[in-house]
Amino acid sequence: MLKFFFFNAVHLSGTKYGCGVGGCGACTVMISTYDPVTKQIQHRPANSCLFPICSLHGAAVTTVEEVGSIKPRIHTIQERLAKCNGSQCGFCTPGKVMSIYALLRNHAEPSMEKIIAALDGRKNQNINLQINHKSPTCCQLRATGQCCLDEEEHIHSGLCNTEEFPPVDPTQEFIFPPELIVGLIDFCCHIFNHTTILCLSGLKKNHHGAYHPIILHPVRIPEMYVVSSTTDGLVIGAACCLAQLRDILMKAVPKLAEEKTKIYQAFLQHLRTLAGEQMRSMASLGGHIVSRASTRELNPISSVGKSVLNLASEGKLWTPCQIPLPDGQNTATENMAKEVIVSVLIPYSMKDDFISAFRQAESQKNALSIVNSGMRILFSPGTDTIVDLSILYGGIGSTILSARKSCEKLIGRQWNDQMLNEACRLVLEEIFLPPSALGRKVEYRRTLLVSFLFRFYLEVLHGLNQMYPFRCAELSQEKMSALGMLQSGIAQGVQIYQLRCPPQDPVGRPIMHQSGIKHTTGEEVYIDDIRPVDGELSLALVTNIKAHTKIMSINASEALQVPGVVDVVTARDVPGENGKDEQAYAEDKVFLASGGVSGPFAPVIYKKRKVSLQVSSCCNQMKISARTVNTEFVASALNLQYNKIMCHMKCVGGAFGGKITKPLLFAVIAAVAANKTGHAVCFALERNMDMLITGRWHPFFGKYKVGFMNDGRIRAADFQCYINGGCTKDEFESVIPCVESGQCIYILNLLVRGHACKTNLPSNTAFRGFEFPQAGLFVETCIVAVATQTDLPHEKVREINMYKRVNLTSFKEKFDAENLWKCWEECLDKPDYYSKKAMKGIAIIPMKFSVGFNATYFHQVTSSNQSLVHIYIDGSVLVTHGGIELGQGIHTKMSHRELKIPLSYIHLCETSTTTVTSGKYTAGSTGTEINARAVQDVCQILWKHLDPIQRDNPNGKWEDWVNLSLCFLLLNYDKPTSDTEKGHAFPYFRFGVSCSENIGTDIVMDACFTINPAIDIGQIEGAFIQGVGLYTLEEIFFSPEGEQLTLGPDTYKIPAICDIPEQFCVYLLPNSCNSIAIYSSKGVGEARFFLGSSVFFAIQDAVAAARKERGLPMDFTPNSPLTVERICMACDDVFTEMVRLFSSLL
Ligand SMILES: Cc1cc2nc3c(=O)[nH]c(=O)nc-3n(C[C@H](O)[C@H](O)[C@H](O)COP(=O)(O)OP(=O)(O)OC[C@H]3O[C@@H](n4cnc5c(N)ncnc54)[C@H](O)[C@@H]3O)c2cc1C
Ligand code: FES
Repeated sequence: MLKFFFFNAVHLSGTKYGCGVGGCGACTVMISTYDPVTKQIQHRPANSCLFPICSLHGAAVTTVEEVGSIKPRIHTIQERLAKCNGSQCGFCTPGKVMSIYALLRNHAEPSMEKIIAALDGRKNQNINLQINHKSPTCCQLRATGQCCLDEEEHIHSGLCNTEEFPPVDPTQEFIFPPELIVGLIDFCCHIFNHTTILCLSGLKKNHHGAYHPIILHPVRIPEMYVVSSTTDGLVIGAACCLAQLRDILMKAVPKLAEEKTKIYQAFLQHLRTLAGEQMRSMASLGGHIVSRASTRELNPISSVGKSVLNLASEGKLWTPCQIPLPDGQNTATENMAKEVIVSVLIPYSMKDDFISAFRQAESQKNALSIVNSGMRILFSPGTDTIVDLSILYGGIGSTILSARKSCEKLIGRQWNDQMLNEACRLVLEEIFLPPSALGRKVEYRRTLLVSFLFRFYLEVLHGLNQMYPFRCAELSQEKMSALGMLQSGIAQGVQIYQLRCPPQDPVGRPIMHQSGIKHTTGEEVYIDDIRPVDGELSLALVTNIKAHTKIMSINASEALQVPGVVDVVTARDVPGENGKDEQAYAEDKVFLASGGVSGPFAPVIYKKRKVSLQVSSCCNQMKISARTVNTEFVASALNLQYNKIMCHMKCVGGAFGGKITKPLLFAVIAAVAANKTGHAVCFALERNMDMLITGRWHPFFGKYKVGFMNDGRIRAADFQCYINGGCTKDEFESVIPCVESGQCIYILNLLVRGHACKTNLPSNTAFRGFEFPQAGLFVETCIVAVATQTDLPHEKVREINMYKRVNLTSFKEKFDAENLWKCWEECLDKPDYYSKKAMKGIAIIPMKFSVGFNATYFHQVTSSNQSLVHIYIDGSVLVTHGGIELGQGIHTKMSHRELKIPLSYIHLCETSTTTVTSGKYTAGSTGTEINARAVQDVCQILWKHLDPIQRDNPNGKWEDWVNLSLCFLLLNYDKPTSDTEKGHAFPYFRFGVSCSENIGTDIVMDACFTINPAIDIGQIEGAFIQGVGLYTLEEIFFSPEGEQLTLGPDTYKIPAICDIPEQFCVYLLPNSCNSIAIYSSKGVGEARFFLGSSVFFAIQDAVAAARKERGLPMDFTPNSPLTVERICMACDDVFTEMVRLFSSLL
């Protein structure tokens, strides 16, 4: 694949590798081709992880390196993205740059819709929204009409100045190589240099069913790119990609009479949401039709629209044969395996035709549909009598299914409610889905069958009314509302914060991420980008496939016969301690159902390189480049002193999994292998293994018993909480007590019992939020239940139970709730909560989140961080500290004010145990505080030494004073940061409130005196969106045998661009201080994650309203994630009821 060619053959590492299945967009490059028909050059984004090199014959590839690099110049796209804080960890940023670059090469001034479409294929775990910053001319906070951006309060908005950027200059871009227009160059495989259909169809016949290394890629056959208009419809070449198809239809539709375009409109509807732009640019219309999978959404519409395939057959002289595109049950497609689809005729629709396309996926865009459908009806002219009806469904079986018999029975019927009821019954009978059907969600999928039909019914009724207003009645308003398009608009962000320092002070200013430019140019070096060293070996895990098994013996002889395999490493090769609580190499028992770190029997060492955790051993010492700088586990495993283990960590990017303990075990596995073989070893998990092994948030089940008054006051609560602890302890001892932190409500009599349940599944871990996301959701669910029982507004019950003034938490910890209330009141004000409350689907959720850990062990670890500050003779400064850059901007925040020098003098390089001996966990939102304090102390000591020199030479410069000092270049810091005495489990609390409704979210956050508003607001926005993913999208499925089925981005859906609220406003609470933390700031990061739950509760509110309308009981408990399936089933509407009733009759 192209991605590996970049790294291995041409040594380019700017293009990243995130998932390997086309799901994340990290590997995006631009492919430019010459269109033999239009004789124009086309630029398209493409996923290089899926692109075979040989299919690039005649194409030019542009990678991020060619777009721009720090030397000689960065591109204006890169500059804007970096300076507008458009990156966090930066791992996916080169892919973003390439998506935007490809767009701009085709459209110099793209519409916002095109920009959003270009970014569709991007996953959005870490997004900073400041790119599309809306200038808040006035936030209308003041009733007087005065703006909140009041100079006296130094309130600012916006985090970058977009006017400083140069415009894109198209004349400076690379040109398409002219030699690729005049001829073909053979480069890496055997190329059949023929350009005729005859040749291709002959080759297809001969190589039918062949796989690698034979790939037929018709890049040069003009007939396959044809676009022509005939009297019957549009003929589109089968080699045209789906993005081209979209562009062709978008151009054609406005030029045609509306009645002719119904099928094209249906195509366009799907082409806006089908996959991402990279995939739409790679997948061909012919390939889409032939691949036939039932999730191929264009096929049902093509088929009901009676598209015609022009085929060339078996190397015979080409006489095009035309066949209608068959529906799913027709086996004619089998023949297509030997034939070539040259082009497809997509006919015009007729006046009395109605065609619609439907799809429902886990998320709006870039997700395969759960069910899709194409429906078409033809009426007898001027009437509503059915002459012809076709209904096809995808996503139900392994191929597309036709409701042919149902349709036949409905011919001759009038289009009315009786017909609809009959149609629903017939379809449910014909498209049968047994309870054990593949793909799960059986009841939901059956509900979708009839829901789509209902929607089609309404669309057609509405269309008939438009055509014959005097004969066909208008739809009621209620029914019209069901036809509303659920398409998100353009997201707009507002960021408001307070600036309280003089202009020369870097603290509190929105300073760009120190690696921002490198993120956008692809020059930031992640572990995957480290070049292999001589003799380096790769490592692959051998994991168990059955849960709870005993290892009787390990026979490696067969593995050792495999070409390239060098050695097999097992627990016997561990000289010292084989992991701590969790074994690095399984010894006698394996608990997990599928894979797992305490599960691998052995790794196989082989020569081919995959991505890396790189370990090299030499002279009884070990050098590790990994996602951790903890030496303890490796040292114990190898029986070495800590000083022999040198751990280097530059930055972490693209992380999916847990981040504290698991990487330590991976380091042990690789270190043992390096120790045994004497070679450097690189080791990384493919995305599916990563999802299987590294762990995520613990699944949580909570039961509550609550005593409350009629006014909503909670007097007593008994909480029983269970987490799925998996097969080992991991960090559950630390996460369980988080349940007790009790969110923002004060309960006088509270009993919390937490249980970690041991199971035969991979252990989960302390992931972002440390169990608080689950516990917080649980407590808020309890509040909703009290509000429902007392029939009081949710916000009133929250208010009456919220901590007031100075309080003691259940840990007997004193804290002041003043800022919590300020956030709450501001947030109620900002979106004008009470006026919006009339709408259904709104929720305002407060948050109180503790900083740091509630276990002494972690406090001891974090308190021993150190820092190293070098001042060089030219005045430049190198800062090293114990924190790890995970994209949270920790290095950027270390750019200290203490030395009173411009930021350009300061450089941060990496985190390493050779410079900072005991930096351990960067977690609990304490990274900046602990490490910045350490750096501050060191700087202050250094400054003390420089001070007399400065006094002697007050008119001198920094460089002069440094030159004279030449001393104290290295100082250590070791200071405890938190009081671990009983009664002070946490150093302090963070507060925030978020309000979400239909299209918007407002967040008010108490970040106190933020060190860097650009970084902090980015963290708030990113964490909120990640929270939305957790609470509404991300679902893990297991087979009944315990095998994890959700293993990658195709099934595990994280938020995309379309999931960002249309109006997304973040306000940092002004005039707030925190005397405990550095520069009076507050740690950010994990806390904001929970605020994503406001979307969960807003949906719950909307579902409650729908249930109320139908007179259903209100005491329903939606589970998280509140996916489209759960929302639909919780609404319990007429269709879910119909399906249940129908199933009970079977
Ligand atoms: C990450 C990802 C996300 C996706 N998301 C969606 C989605 O949301 N909705 C959706 O509908 N689809 C989705 N798809 C599927 C996609 O739309 C394509 O249909 C699919 O990739 C096949 O197109 P292709 O050109 O790559 O075909 P190929 O893989 O190149 O070809 C498929 C088969 O067709 C044959 N073939 C190709 N062209 C011809 C021809 N002209 N004549 C005869 N035989 C031919 C090939 O020999 C091969 O056997 C997704 C795919 C991926 C990888
Ligand atoms: S690595 Fe190619 S799309 Fe994820």
